[in-house]
Amino acid sequence: MAAGPRSKAEEDAPASRAQSDANRKLKYISLAVLVVQNASLILSIRYVRTLPGDRFFATSAVVMAEVLKLVTCLLIILLQTRLSLRETAGLLHDAIVVQYKDTLKLAVPSLIYTLQNNLQYVAISNLPAATFQVTYQLKILTTALFSVLMLRKSLSRVQWVSLLLLFAGVAIVQVQQEGNKEASLANGANQNYTVGLVAVVISCLSSGFAGVYFEKILKGSSASVWMRNVQLGIFGTVLGLLGLWWNDGPAIAERGFLYGYTGMVWCVIFNQAFGGLLVAVVVKYADNILKGFATSFSIVVSTVMSVYLFGFHVDLLFTVGAGMVIGAVYMYSLPKAPAGSPSLSSSSASSASPRAVEGDEMEAFLPKSAGKEKGS
Ligand code: C5P
Repeated sequence: MAAGPRSKAEEDAPASRAQSDANRKLKYISLAVLVVQNASLILSIRYVRTLPGDRFFATSAVVMAEVLKLVTCLLIILLQTRLSLRETAGLLHDAIVVQYKDTLKLAVPSLIYTLQNNLQYVAISNLPAATFQVTYQLKILTTALFSVLMLRKSLSRVQWVSLLLLFAGVAIVQVQQEGNKEASLANGANQNYTVGLVAVVISCLSSGFAGVYFEKILKGSSASVWMRNVQLGIFGTVLGLLGLWWNDGPAIAERGFLYGYTGMVWCVIFNQAFGGLLVAVVVKYADNILKGFATSFSIVVSTVMSVYLFGFHVDLLFTVGAGMVIGAVYMYSLPKAPAGSPSLSSSSASSASPRAVEGDEMEAFLPKSAGKEKGS
């Protein structure tokens, strides 16, 4: 049996398979790291904001995190060009100046994220950590909504139900956690619940919109995630500085930009910057909805961790909430019903979708999910 000459497509197949394997690996890894990062960030912010003593300026922390992200991305691009300053400068000039329209597009998520990052400090400073976490989970739903509206993703009815279940499960875990934590009730007198709640609700809308908008920009072009984050970081730094000047200008002029920075504050800032870059990677290799599952999972993980760390005890309510989260992950990963059965999408345009949300994307959580039988 004579084998004919191999076609170009056949020759390319192993390379593209290797590439997609590498991408899938990055997806698992980035989602898993996000679970751990997210579990530590909120608690550490709450911790540093409620410590007695000199309180650092949240606006300066936001700017510092933006600068760190910007510098990190520039270093990565420099490394990718094998430390060629010339090539790096050329790439930056092309992406930022020549393609200035793309750069301007990033002003939108940048503005929203800067607002969100500041609001997050307002919310966490005014609400018990658990209340913040529960309400902030509403972003699971805003993200799904914006994904359907802006990316024309199509979600089956089961997937919508799984998102509701996810939200309910995380809320139960949080409420239960709050009941167990007398410490969280020891609120300072200068905390304002309504202000905190408004801040967190606006953050949810902002998180859903900005995340999906960024995903649309990232997946609709060939520019690297690092270059996109340089563009985002430039706006983020400028806008963050404006926010700082507006909100704390005179106080910072008097006490200094780094006022109240302790080792722990630096840890929070590094954590936030790292988390921001991680979100960008997750959005590139997975998507915003999967990001929501990862962060929900992280809440269950952090609660289980506190069993060991703080002697927290698991009761029935926690078990029910955690069970709902795990059930939601499973439901979301179920294969879609065959074409023709009802699915809720923004329009009939799911064929134009950049990447419809499909069951097998959930393999990040369930490596052997049944999601191979795609219904769409
Ligand atoms: O809560 P949520 O997942 O919406 O938070 C996203 C965080 O990730 C924000 O702090 C935002 O500044 C950051 N981010 C980033 N770079 C991106 C996307 C998000 O730094 N490309």
